[in-house]
Amino acid sequence: MSPAHRDQTVAHGLRWDRAADLEKDPAEVPDPERVEVPQALREEIEAHMANYPDSRSAALPALEAAQRLHGWCSPEAIEQVACVMRVTPAYLESVASFYDMLETAPVGRHSVYVCTNISCSLRGADELYETVRDAATEGIDGEPINVRSFECLGACDIAPMASVDGVYVGPLTPEDVPQLLEDLRAGRPVLPEKQLVRRLVADPHANTREFPRHPADETARADEGGD
Ligand code: FES
Repeated sequence: MSPAHRDQTVAHGLRWDRAADLEKDPAEVPDPERVEVPQALREEIEAHMANYPDSRSAALPALEAAQRLHGWCSPEAIEQVACVMRVTPAYLESVASFYDMLETAPVGRHSVYVCTNISCSLRGADELYETVRDAATEGIDGEPINVRSFECLGACDIAPMASVDGVYVGPLTPEDVPQLLEDLRAGRPVLPEKQLVRRLVADPHANTREFPRHPADETARADEGGD
């Protein structure tokens, strides 16, 4: 590794080339007597563990649950998950640091991931991303909004799109951004008429009733004689 590359690697906190510290105590599974785990979090993690033949496979949903509670995969969150799963915090840190949607630093509780991969990019995602980033600088209730550009989020048919706290919305234009942020700040469903989950599909029997639709969709449906 060149010295310049090493400096850059260290600057990003990536110390994968650091020699193992053989003097260090071995990693330990946290002691349940010492670590307090919120009951609801414990139950959710245990339910995930029960879904897999090898309970360590529940690391991702367990970390996601802890992130939802703590806002990020903080050392405390990781320790709580490790305590319930009976694994070392280091095992979970290696998982959390690999996956983009698990945050290993505080970022704020609300996230807007703007897809800037090819389909979205061809339809104006780069401008959309910059508009969201600039408009979101105020944050919410003193916390930043976690605005990131993302690789393909798997909803290219509604390009350009974004995931707002996990809710897919699109196709978006820069003009949608003020309303998107206003909805997010007010705690309302974000751009309901643009949510993927509320869109009708061709098979009327496949359309879920779980989410209320935009009135325009209901009118169109009635006109087509749908159920
Ligand atoms: S390229 Fe944006 S969702 Fe696929």
